[in-house]
Amino acid sequence: MASGLVLVASTSILLLFVAASTNAHNITHILAGHPSLSTFNHYLTVTHLAAEINRRQTITVLAVDNSAMSALLSKQLSVETIKNVLSLHVLVDYFGAKKLHQITGGSTLTASIFQATGSAPGTSGFVNITDLKAGRVGFGTQDGKLNAFFVKSVFEMPYNISVQQISQLLNSDQAEAPASAPSVNLTAAMNKDCKAFADLLTATKVDTTFNDNVDGGLTVFCPTDSVVKGFMSKYSKLTAVQKEALLLFHGVPIFQSLQMLKSNNGKVNTLATDGDGKYQLTVQNDGEVIKLQTKIATSKITGTLVAEDPLAIYKIDKFLQPAEIFDPTSSPAPKSSSSDDGDADSPNGEPSDDENGALGRGVGSLIVAFSLCFGLLFV
Ligand SMILES: *[C@@H]1O[C@H](CO)[C@@H](O)[C@H](O)[C@H]1NC(C)=O
Ligand SMILES: *[C@@H]1O[C@H](CO)[C@@H](O)[C@H](O)[C@H]1NC(C)=O
Ligand SMILES: *[C@@H]1O[C@H](CO)[C@@H](O)[C@H](O)[C@H]1NC(C)=O
Ligand SMILES: *[C@@H]1O[C@H](CO)[C@@H](O)[C@H](O)[C@H]1NC(C)=O
Repeated sequence: MASGLVLVASTSILLLFVAASTNAHNITHILAGHPSLSTFNHYLTVTHLAAEINRRQTITVLAVDNSAMSALLSKQLSVETIKNVLSLHVLVDYFGAKKLHQITGGSTLTASIFQATGSAPGTSGFVNITDLKAGRVGFGTQDGKLNAFFVKSVFEMPYNISVQQISQLLNSDQAEAPASAPSVNLTAAMNKDCKAFADLLTATKVDTTFNDNVDGGLTVFCPTDSVVKGFMSKYSKLTAVQKEALLLFHGVPIFQSLQMLKSNNGKVNTLATDGDGKYQLTVQNDGEVIKLQTKIATSKITGTLVAEDPLAIYKIDKFLQPAEIFDPTSSPAPKSSSSDDGDADSPNGEPSDDENGALGRGVGSLIVAFSLCFGLLFV
């Protein structure tokens, strides 16, 4: 009986949660059921357009299949430019298949997110939709030809979100023009409390790698100035290659809010992680405290400098110390005291076996939580 009550209580809490978080649509989820659109879906996430689409009330997404996306990717554009191209395919108006085939006057110009963001020069962010002969619907940019055609309706939820597949991406020199990097200056953002760490990044030139990753999402854990000072004797004994790997170990190539860090315990890849799964970091929360662990040391997050998608910078109270550098002999990972300093640092890490349990469990519970919400939404 008691457990029945608990179930009722937690169900209503979940329902409340679902009700409270209605902006109803999730483009990632909508497209997940369409494998032929998976590359398009992936890049909506990579460019953070998915969040923008979910946030908006009335939207039409013109999706293309994987081969059309391959054509775009073969041009080797930056993430920021791909974002501009894709944002041209997100219209800030609602077009179901029916409306597309019954355009008043046979032709219309409609604004895209590319226009709305102000990145589009002039009116290059407008999309021309034209009804052609025999029920065909053509799409083009304002200046050019109609180079793409309606394929099929993928999803419609009037008048919130519509997803329509078109034959290929719209041609647009303006959208494909090299986009300037976002205005975040990593080094400048770290000036407060993390200046010494920023100086290390600059001195070793790994700041470039950090900056290159901001667009796609980046989380930086920076040891504060006093921590860097205390660590310098140890740091100075490292080889150039080890210094580089150590600093890269302090970056995680996705954006993680504090809330995400608290709810996703487990191993994460860092900028130093290579194909072998080396240089992984374990995130473990302890109540409200977020701990970052290696076999050698545990650091804690002590403050936030920046936490705005796509960039997060958190202050930490101790250098992260990858076993690959600080305990090269570790295979079975003996517990070594975190404060030892005297060991002659031998060069270059040996492989160390990593267990994968924590992440697996995290993902499992996420899936359970998600399917619960999903079930409730659709009963
Ligand atoms: C469309 O969005 C509004 C506002 O978020 C919401 O109230 C409505 O239920 C949504 N429509 C559908 C069909 O889900
Ligand atoms: C949207 O759906 C995807 C895939 O189903 C899921 O991973 C993601 O967490 C969802 N996003 C939100 C904001 O609910
Ligand atoms: C859309 O493009 C077609 C073909 O280039 C053109 O005939 C039509 O006038 C354009 N529509 C608008 C509203 O500009
Ligand atoms: C970032 O800021 C630092 C310090 O304020 C400055 O020296 C550097 O030139 C800036 N870098 C870029 C790319 O603007």
